[in-house]
Amino acid sequence: MTSEPSTNADATKVIWHTGSVSAIDRGKLLGQVGCVVWFTGLSGSGKSTIANALDRILVQQGRPSLLLDGDNIRHGLCATPSILKPSYGEAFSERFGLSFSPQDREENIRRIGEVAYLIASAGLICLSAFVSPYRKDRDRVRNVVERDNQFQFFEVFVDTPLETCEKRDPKGLYRQAREGKIPFFTGITDPYEPPENPDLVLGSSFNTPEHCAQVVLDLLTKQNVFSNRSSIADGAAGSAR
Ligand code: ADX
Repeated sequence: MTSEPSTNADATKVIWHTGSVSAIDRGKLLGQVGCVVWFTGLSGSGKSTIANALDRILVQQGRPSLLLDGDNIRHGLCATPSILKPSYGEAFSERFGLSFSPQDREENIRRIGEVAYLIASAGLICLSAFVSPYRKDRDRVRNVVERDNQFQFFEVFVDTPLETCEKRDPKGLYRQAREGKIPFFTGITDPYEPPENPDLVLGSSFNTPEHCAQVVLDLLTKQNVFSNRSSIADGAAGSAR
């Protein structure tokens, strides 16, 4: 009897390899412990603006960070079907492109969660600015980032009221959503589930982005993100995940 190569995904065996450098030791090179700051809120709430302000402050202070921004990521890693189509064709872009349906947002946030974990593993402060409207998706990212108890996950709710976001309407998307031209638009035809226990709530309509960024920075400092300055020779070298 000949055995056929299996096409059953469950038959695929992938075994985890533990690396030789721990995340703590990698972070020591940078004097910090990698972490994820997850900004969530409506489109136009100010997530990207605050995250960019914080990114700038961190880099000015010599604290390496990396910003993942929803609009930008949806041009590449999590490209929408229409962005993929010219290079990859209809069938591929329909299969792998991510729209704004609940399931596609789930996959968008899942991918970003894994990338955020990798960025924290490199010892960086990962800033992420995604609408991420579903509580379940955000909670899963927290579980991914905190799975080995190495990295902290800070959920920051940019609590700007819908009326303010709609008045700002920086990309004209709310107007189009009201006209029925954009399906699943968060806050209009799709829900936004506010965090139940966020690490921080920012009311961006009352504060400057720089002030909000400083409040986040104070939280990171208080949570000892920047107290990893001793040398690797001190020990504490655990095995890497
Ligand atoms: S998420 O819900 O999957 O987290 P993401 O943050 O990646 O969304 O992208 C949101 C950005 O895409 C918004 O800032 C907005 O500019 C744009 N956008 C386009 N369509 C929608 C939609 N249906 N709902 C929300 N944002 C949308």
